[in-house]
Amino acid sequence: MSGLVDLRSDTVTRPTPGMRAAIAAAEVGDDVYGEDPTVCALEEEVAAHFGREAAVFVPSGLMATQVLLRVLTRPGTELVCESDAHVVAYEVGAAAINAQVQTRTLDGDRGRLDADRVRAALRPASFPYTEVAAISVEETTNRGGGAVHGLDRLRALRALADERGVALHGDGARLFNALVATGEPAGEVGATFTAFSVCLSKGLGAPVGSLAVGDAAAIEEARLWRRRFGGAMRQAGILAAAGRYALANHIERLAEDHANARAIAHRVADACPGSVEPATVTTNIVYVDTSPRSAAEVVDELRVEGVLVGAMGPNLLRLVTHLDVDAAGCRRAADLVVAACRG
Ligand SMILES: Cc1ncc(COP(=O)(O)O)c(C=O)c1O
Repeated sequence: MSGLVDLRSDTVTRPTPGMRAAIAAAEVGDDVYGEDPTVCALEEEVAAHFGREAAVFVPSGLMATQVLLRVLTRPGTELVCESDAHVVAYEVGAAAINAQVQTRTLDGDRGRLDADRVRAALRPASFPYTEVAAISVEETTNRGGGAVHGLDRLRALRALADERGVALHGDGARLFNALVATGEPAGEVGATFTAFSVCLSKGLGAPVGSLAVGDAAAIEEARLWRRRFGGAMRQAGILAAAGRYALANHIERLAEDHANARAIAHRVADACPGSVEPATVTTNIVYVDTSPRSAAEVVDELRVEGVLVGAMGPNLLRLVTHLDVDAAGCRRAADLVVAACRG
């Protein structure tokens, strides 16, 4: 449908003409032999961006998390994470199957963990208590509305992880959004995690791909797990070229997505007080309380007008801004949400 405004997720973007040209021109080789120059270049660029030793290209954010959990934990240990974290909400039990960990979920603040709360909840590190292997944090938080932990919280969590001798895992599906929102240095944020992922296929607009990032030994092991999970690819430079293009061209522009999300939040909050708190919208995700209207009904009404948004709960809508929807499209979506919530 022409003029469609799709704000269900930042994963719905399509490659731009520039990105398609980069894909078409990509030099490729067999990456299982380590011979794809474009994949190697992408891995080196991402590791260098965060001041870390190594990175490995994987097909999805989920796989990046799964290979890292295999590296950072052992079967029978515990992964501590927030109650609504992607790893428990949306990975269909993968951590239990692949890493064979049990998850200990703690309620946070908009999906964020706080070191003092985690410290208070951690069980003693002695038999017969279940051993904690890793603490996992999402930066930014998906179900927490794009909230950013930021360097201070992450450093406090790192200090706790060191104190307890456990790993700090970062699900950085939207880490670039966090960095653009805070202006914090990528190297300092990247240094807080034992190992972490970044996604190229969310706000950065690439069609496929994530990277697991960390020290050389961890990433070497992650390569083995990628292979075991069936995620080692052949001429993957076709995909990595899109990722390199995204890194070169689509990071700074995330600020536009954040501005569009704030504008949606202000428009909806002004017309429908209490439905959204604009001060909490700091990146590209906006949650709107449609009460007393059902979110599913609102979704259907907007769809008829060519605007797609997500129903995340009985009265909860989610709008995620990204590079395929401009400010005018976001205004249109906000106006329709207002009309629906009033209706
Ligand atoms: C926070 C977070 N982590 C991980 C993922 C998984 O990424 P993928 O869909 O590429 O597997 C997502 C997907 O939206 C996400 O929001």
